[in-house]
Amino acid sequence: MKAVAVYPGKAHSVHLEELPRPQLSDVPNGRGVLVKVLKVGVDATDAEINEALYGNAPVGSDFLVLGHECFGRVEAVGPSVTHVRPGDYVTSTVRRPGGSIFDRIGRSDITTEEVYYERGINLLHGYMTEYFVDDLEYIIKVPESLKHLHVLCEPASVAYKAIDEAMHAQRRLQVWEPKTAFVLGSGQIGLLTTMILRLRGIRTFTIARSEAPNLKAEIAAAFGSTYVSTKKTSLKELAQKVGKPDLIIESTGHSGVAFEAMEILNLNGAMVWTSITGGQRSIQVPSDKINLEWVLGNKLLLGSVNSNYRHFEKAIADLGYAEQMFPGVLQRILTHPVHGLENYQKMIELLEDPSTLKVFMNVSED
Ligand code: BGC
Ligand code: ZN
Repeated sequence: MKAVAVYPGKAHSVHLEELPRPQLSDVPNGRGVLVKVLKVGVDATDAEINEALYGNAPVGSDFLVLGHECFGRVEAVGPSVTHVRPGDYVTSTVRRPGGSIFDRIGRSDITTEEVYYERGINLLHGYMTEYFVDDLEYIIKVPESLKHLHVLCEPASVAYKAIDEAMHAQRRLQVWEPKTAFVLGSGQIGLLTTMILRLRGIRTFTIARSEAPNLKAEIAAAFGSTYVSTKKTSLKELAQKVGKPDLIIESTGHSGVAFEAMEILNLNGAMVWTSITGGQRSIQVPSDKINLEWVLGNKLLLGSVNSNYRHFEKAIADLGYAEQMFPGVLQRILTHPVHGLENYQKMIELLEDPSTLKVFMNVSED
């Protein structure tokens, strides 16, 4: 079967590989789920892998099959599998456990091991192929009524985790009800974060560079958020105007913005960084001022990456809830389909085009 792969460390090396079709028996103890891949999304992580800034091939392979945002249909299951059946729509988690205590309790998303294993990203082949087999514990059912949102499950789980981690950590305060949130960035993570915050009734500002009108601004507004362009209003000006945010979720991909935002967080506030900044940028910051304000304000900074099974389940539930609250909005994120694995060059071109919101590969017809 065909697969789209790169040679990690070699920029712009996307090509087609021929792989053997996986078998249910590849997973021991009857725990295998064989999935026919229908769609695979790509994001900034894939762009960085394509630029050879990030990602590693599995040991013993010189290539890495791309794809970590998957959506498919179950073809067959082993005798130990009860939570999904052939014909079900499913998605699958990205990270696989290492050996730390967190890995062993199902929280590989917060592993303490330096080396982490992620399908389509680091040391494990991804989903951009025709079929895959995995252990039942990584396969999450997606209701048929949400199949039109397909590849949004994984990024939604990442957005869900970022907010959930902040909520958990803020229990340190005994009472904390965030009134105002700033979401920095209006890519898929920014928009899905906006959606989750708005479902919880939080006054949300989605802040990005481009001036409205544009699609991202329309989607943010349709979720009931206020879209702000930093070309017109700086973060500081906005905070002066509407008040300092209790929660900031940073997802711009620019480390400079992550530091700039440290100057506007409210007292007792929490900021979550989610950008994967594979570059080498370096900036100067007013460190005494920030240090003082963060100490005197008891502020919290949190990094959040990846997501586990539970985050996927909750995120999928929120996608369903959002379809009730904001009908038809989510599918507007899914802007740029590419048809067929052999069209991988087209997919990369679209991925590199800054005007595209979401690029995904239609691997197979349903
Ligand atoms: C993926 C996460 C992954 C992270 C770091 C993101 O694009 O969505 O699942 O943990 O990259 O590799
Ligand atoms: Zn991703």
